[in-house]
Amino acid sequence: MHEHDVIVVGAGGAGLRAAIAAQEEGADVAMVTKLHPVRSHTGAAEGGINAALREGDSWEDHAYDTMKGSDYLGDAPAVETLCQDSPEEVIQLEHWGMAFSRDDDGRVSQRPFGGLSFPRTTYAGAETGHHLLHTLYEQVVKRGIEVYDEWYVSDLAVTDADDPENRECHGVVAYDIKSGELSGFKARDGVVLATGGPGQVYDHTTNAVANTGDGVAMAYRAGVPIEDMEMIQFHPTTLPSTGVLISEGVRGEGGILLNDDNERFMFEHGYANNAGELASRDVVSRAELTEINEGRGIEDEYIDLDMRHLGEERITDRLENILHLAEDFEGVDGLTEPMPVKPGQHYAMGGVETNEHGETCVSGLYAVGECACASVHGSNRLGGNALPELIVFGARAGKHAAGGEFEPARITVGETGDSEIGSIDSPVQLGEVGLTRDDVAADGGTAAAPGSSTLSPAETVDRAVERERARVDRLLNKEEGVNHASVRADVQKTMTQNVNVFREEENLKDALADIRVARERYQDVYVSDPSRTFNTDLIHTIETRNVLDLAEAITLGALARDEFRGAHWRKEHQERKDDEWLKHTMLTWTDGEPRLWYKPVVLEGESKTYEPKSRSY
Ligand code: FUM
Repeated sequence: MHEHDVIVVGAGGAGLRAAIAAQEEGADVAMVTKLHPVRSHTGAAEGGINAALREGDSWEDHAYDTMKGSDYLGDAPAVETLCQDSPEEVIQLEHWGMAFSRDDDGRVSQRPFGGLSFPRTTYAGAETGHHLLHTLYEQVVKRGIEVYDEWYVSDLAVTDADDPENRECHGVVAYDIKSGELSGFKARDGVVLATGGPGQVYDHTTNAVANTGDGVAMAYRAGVPIEDMEMIQFHPTTLPSTGVLISEGVRGEGGILLNDDNERFMFEHGYANNAGELASRDVVSRAELTEINEGRGIEDEYIDLDMRHLGEERITDRLENILHLAEDFEGVDGLTEPMPVKPGQHYAMGGVETNEHGETCVSGLYAVGECACASVHGSNRLGGNALPELIVFGARAGKHAAGGEFEPARITVGETGDSEIGSIDSPVQLGEVGLTRDDVAADGGTAAAPGSSTLSPAETVDRAVERERARVDRLLNKEEGVNHASVRADVQKTMTQNVNVFREEENLKDALADIRVARERYQDVYVSDPSRTFNTDLIHTIETRNVLDLAEAITLGALARDEFRGAHWRKEHQERKDDEWLKHTMLTWTDGEPRLWYKPVVLEGESKTYEPKSRSY
């Protein structure tokens, strides 16, 4: 068994920042990651990092924009923490040598981004995430932090108390992809999940193939509540053939959106009379799809993003990467032609419920980055707010896990006295679509084993390893059955068709029914490659269960929320219902079913309350 003070799972921006902060606090830290750190999906982030750095801007304005962008489903304490800490974290990156783009006077450049009242998005060309990742990884190497790369963490080692709030996380189980060996990793002080988002739930996504929501699903099955899962962001500018991201930075620099009639429809059709193309993403994505659905799309499929008027010098200075992406993936020269774009899944606003320190309700378990829901994005994330979340909350969680001092958290985690039990007005009942707890145990997942709560931390890890070993052996020894790829493809297809930008009750129910069928098929899943070395068939089979659990969670939350808020548009419910829905959707895996409950949004900030206003751009 490996043993460290703090174990960070995942090595994208949030994981790297957490590891550095824990190490600075004096902890012996290890990172366990299925990808080499610089191959993490943070490297695909293009446009930039929001931080109120300049005269004329303030963290308060950033917080106001973020609360408005969230459509008042963000929690003010977390939003204010994000906006207060972001400038210092960005300056820290600069001091660590990050190659930010610069103005002629030498200052770090900032550009406008959607939904911002000030051009506060710092950037490094259109490869900001790539530079961020390399800057942080250099620090990890410099500090001698141990990195177990190409080790796939497939389960948590958590004690069995009936109430998740009394459970403790003592480590993880990981599969060495190179050798096929399973090992336990015991964490003396804490486990930090930083595994990224669940983009692979959809088939048209900007997300990497590795983004299967592993940390969210593992925490969920260990009893940790997951929050606001229905809030999925669809980015307005993705390449139609692949889903590859074309940065909002193009519009930030002045790029325009045109329909088949060559109209600048954001203005000409009144979708956003002030901000136009720089309205927030939910608004722009709906506008594009409305144009396409009403027959003004190009080839009935996409719209044009035109940056030709910016000129070659500016484009190659600030957006060179975009030229390569358009050329390589679509065969289009962005200097001389408009680029075809359409909305695609990009980001999950929801995730593992945490407070401002990254703590979950299970002692010793933290979550940060896209896999977490500290509740800074609510129902719509502003472009440029993901990267500051990684570094701000990554640093806080790493420090806290290593014993660093903080003020008490203002956001509570776990069930509170204020919570309310939810229901879904639907003939598709929760029990019909969920695996029972016994089913999960049979598949080797995190099901509580009664009577084992007296296990020591090491025994808890050993037990988790044994259970995982039994699951892997079962999968490898099964000689025939269903291949994971067809199950995953079915889920992705129904999610893309039915749980997209425009959501209707019947479609959501269809998706739940399809997910139920996919779950049943998954019970018969088998791995066709029996080898132990680099068995990606096995890894993808394990990941597919996470995809299933999270697709179900997204759809259940979407069906239950009968209002229109942020990215969550409902055909039958065209209004934001503040009297009823200023609350977070929570799901807890309980007694073999996802249990739905709600907790109130926190709109009270440090010195003001963010009163919900009508949201226009
Ligand atoms: O469009 C972009 O460059 C993406 C940025 C983000 O998601 O924050």
